[in-house]
Amino acid sequence: MADNAQLRALDATLARDPATLSGAPPAPAATLVIFGGSGDLTKRLLMPALYNLSAAKLLDPGFAVLGVDRVEGDDASWRHSQTETITSFLAARGHASNLDNDAWVWVCDRLAYLQGDLEDPATYAAIGKKLEQGSAVFYLAVSDRFFAPIIDHLAEAGLLSEPEGHCRRVVIEKPFGHDLISAQALNQRILKVMDENQVFRIDHFLGKETVQNIMALRFSNGIFEPLWKRDHIDHVQITALETVGVEKRGHFYEHTGALRDMVPNHMFQLLAMTAMEAPNSFDADAVRSEKAKVIEAIRPLSAAQAMADVVRGQYAAGTLNGTTLPGYRQEPDVAPDSTAETYVALKLGIDNWRWAGVPFYIRTGKRTHTRKTEIAIHFKQAPYALFRDTPVERLTPNILTLHIQPREGASLQFSAKVPGPKVHLGPVTMDFSYADYFGASNSTGYETLLYDVFIGDNTLFQRADNIEAGWAAVQPILDAWAETEGEVHPYYAGTAGPTQADRLLARDGRSWMKLT
Ligand code: BG6
Repeated sequence: MADNAQLRALDATLARDPATLSGAPPAPAATLVIFGGSGDLTKRLLMPALYNLSAAKLLDPGFAVLGVDRVEGDDASWRHSQTETITSFLAARGHASNLDNDAWVWVCDRLAYLQGDLEDPATYAAIGKKLEQGSAVFYLAVSDRFFAPIIDHLAEAGLLSEPEGHCRRVVIEKPFGHDLISAQALNQRILKVMDENQVFRIDHFLGKETVQNIMALRFSNGIFEPLWKRDHIDHVQITALETVGVEKRGHFYEHTGALRDMVPNHMFQLLAMTAMEAPNSFDADAVRSEKAKVIEAIRPLSAAQAMADVVRGQYAAGTLNGTTLPGYRQEPDVAPDSTAETYVALKLGIDNWRWAGVPFYIRTGKRTHTRKTEIAIHFKQAPYALFRDTPVERLTPNILTLHIQPREGASLQFSAKVPGPKVHLGPVTMDFSYADYFGASNSTGYETLLYDVFIGDNTLFQRADNIEAGWAAVQPILDAWAETEGEVHPYYAGTAGPTQADRLLARDGRSWMKLT
């Protein structure tokens, strides 16, 4: 049975119009070797993305997929189970007739399976035999504890040396490390056996169309960039709220929590896109250098600030749309007295010329009242002398909101005169919605990311320094939490998070965007 997250992701992927991916040439021939071939990520994200790439004719006829896993199976059984999953997901969503059979058969005919132990050198020898001297992309769709051993085995088997005219690349999922030290150690281990440009550290937020659009919006429009600085911006709010709980990932979440799961990676990527300087070009390293610089400029929190400027929350039982939901502590594989946070809100500063003094408020949490990811740029108030009879709190602040999901687009809020003989101001909004202009539907982003790996473009992937800068910025918080218990504030499932998060802004005379 598919769970909600699987259905959501697959629905979004399959609903995507493959035409939006076209216009690019097919990626060169390569074998995609998926470690964790029978796992969830393969079914839920990789296969649907390959199917979409096939429908958009973006894969070379020489393309092949080799699934590697301990689970018993062969080519026929793997093909069968992948076909079953893709069609059962579609049927569950009432899209059964939407499957482009030719596109799926094209992928399915290229699937091969190798049953093998990921820690056994014989598995790598068998992979080497299949690859011969061709190009290969090794996708680590496995638990993070296998990342380093698999890379070591690949290196020992000589599979990371690039044959003449061909590539060897490795795609690594998150979590990339558990803190700064473990992330540095993993980077060192990886870079001992391959070049940085062979490594593709995935942050799936970067595959989202609207996240990529932040750069386009900022750097291709004359009107935004002159205002994009401390002189005009009061503060920035970055939000990623989800209605889902921890689902079947209680065990993982107990050791991870919302801060590690979302902040050094996804939230900081949104922050970097919003706050980075314009790169000299769209060359992968130019973009990634600017991103690293701005993440490195996040002011390190002292232990006292880490306690005062960071709020932790955990959902308690509640209701959402009439459904009663269990609390986090009642979820499977979660301790009844767990203190893992399922919500975190923080206030950060960026110590550079552009952003000094501008607070960045970040919040992310599970089981909230709404699913929304957005970035809201709050501009400074206009001088209000002309409207001196209007109380300041009733003047509409100018807010540019970049909507990442589920709605994709941007909107600008400003003041306008309410019609009538008296001068009254009211808030109005100018709206741009992707769906209206481009007809594009949501995407999980894996199509773009996979295609980029096949063509060797690392722009949307995290470089070692990006990853380490993210961990360095949250490390003082992890250290402070390790030293002082601090409080994890409960919030009812189906609400906007703990009230302490509201106080974080209220004490600065600000409030979170109201999300419906
Ligand atoms: C993942 C986190 O990286 O991102 C999950 O591990 C989270 O906990 C997910 O739910 C959110 O991604 P999206 O694309 O559904 O917003």
